[in-house]
Amino acid sequence: MYRVAVIKGDGIGPEVVDAAIEVVNAVTSRVRFYEFEGGVEVFKRHGVPITQDDLEEIKKMDAVLFGATTTPFDLPGYKSLIITLRKELNLYANLRIIPDFTDGREIVIVRENSEGLYSGQGRAFDDRAVDVRLITREGAERIARFAARVAKERGSFITFVHKANVLTSDKFFRRIVLEVAREEGVEVREAIVDSFTIKLVRNPWDHGVILSENLFGDILSDLATIHAGSIGVVPTGNYGDDIALFEPIHGSAPDIAGKGIANPIGAILSAAMMLDYLGLDGSRIWNAVRSYVRKGNLTPDMGGTATTMEVTRGIIQEIHDL
Ligand code: NAI
Ligand code: MG
Repeated sequence: MYRVAVIKGDGIGPEVVDAAIEVVNAVTSRVRFYEFEGGVEVFKRHGVPITQDDLEEIKKMDAVLFGATTTPFDLPGYKSLIITLRKELNLYANLRIIPDFTDGREIVIVRENSEGLYSGQGRAFDDRAVDVRLITREGAERIARFAARVAKERGSFITFVHKANVLTSDKFFRRIVLEVAREEGVEVREAIVDSFTIKLVRNPWDHGVILSENLFGDILSDLATIHAGSIGVVPTGNYGDDIALFEPIHGSAPDIAGKGIANPIGAILSAAMMLDYLGLDGSRIWNAVRSYVRKGNLTPDMGGTATTMEVTRGIIQEIHDL
């Protein structure tokens, strides 16, 4: 039995996570879910977005399924729950898969999730402010190995996107990526980040596994989601050495929360990525979603009139039919 921590969060978070749990239970009985609370309400009571006791419990789990939380702009001392979890669970690799449901193509992006410009070593002085773009040998090696593994699993190659022509940290990163890829026997193509944005808009499907530093990866992976049709369908996995956390990329969507019309597909595909990680084969879910999207009634964000529950039921029906 696999033990999965669930943090549903705010807004549409609980609506889409409940859908994902239903779908998981339709394909396997080997996952047990344990719910944890986190976010603003916990912060108001405990001064932290998640309690230390809960964190320790979560660290003992096999994986985490996360919905979305609302991060207020004006709550002094509050730090976003997902950022806290990425740090506490040492989730250094972020894998985002942007599906094209019509023909099965995907954009695959591996973002370094722990250092780069988000190293957290910024300082402000009276007359200037500095952020540190930290690339360590250890950090570069482990993300390069991660990307190489993803590329091998897919019979694909890596496109390393960087600015090594200008940035010292990317020159260093590049050397290590090329080294690791040679060792792993994976082809590396390279692209300079600024002109790569144009390619990602014009011919997004031809880049194998796109690998980049934290901030570049953040921007590229958001840009790439325009090719999915809706932000509501894109899943992501955050991986560490001991545990991984899966979540739809969207936020809590307060504008549609409680209406029962949130698109559950991003959360459902996140659960499929989780099953793959656990060795339980998420492909049945992927296939069911593809098949449903081609013929089924979709939620309003994708031009349909269906509710969250109708889409979820439809996908479960596909699982039984396929
Ligand atoms: P958002 O992703 O929540 O919403 C952006 C737009 O996309 C909205 O119009 C929303 O209705 C729509 N949308 C998002 N997910 C959808 C779905 N599953 N189905 C249908 N439509 C969907 O981003 P926004 O508005 O910038 O942020 C809202 C809140 O979410 C903020 O408090 C933000 O901090 C938080 N957030 C949390 C994240 C997380 O927990 N990982 C990630 C991004 C934002
Ligand atoms: Mg982002």
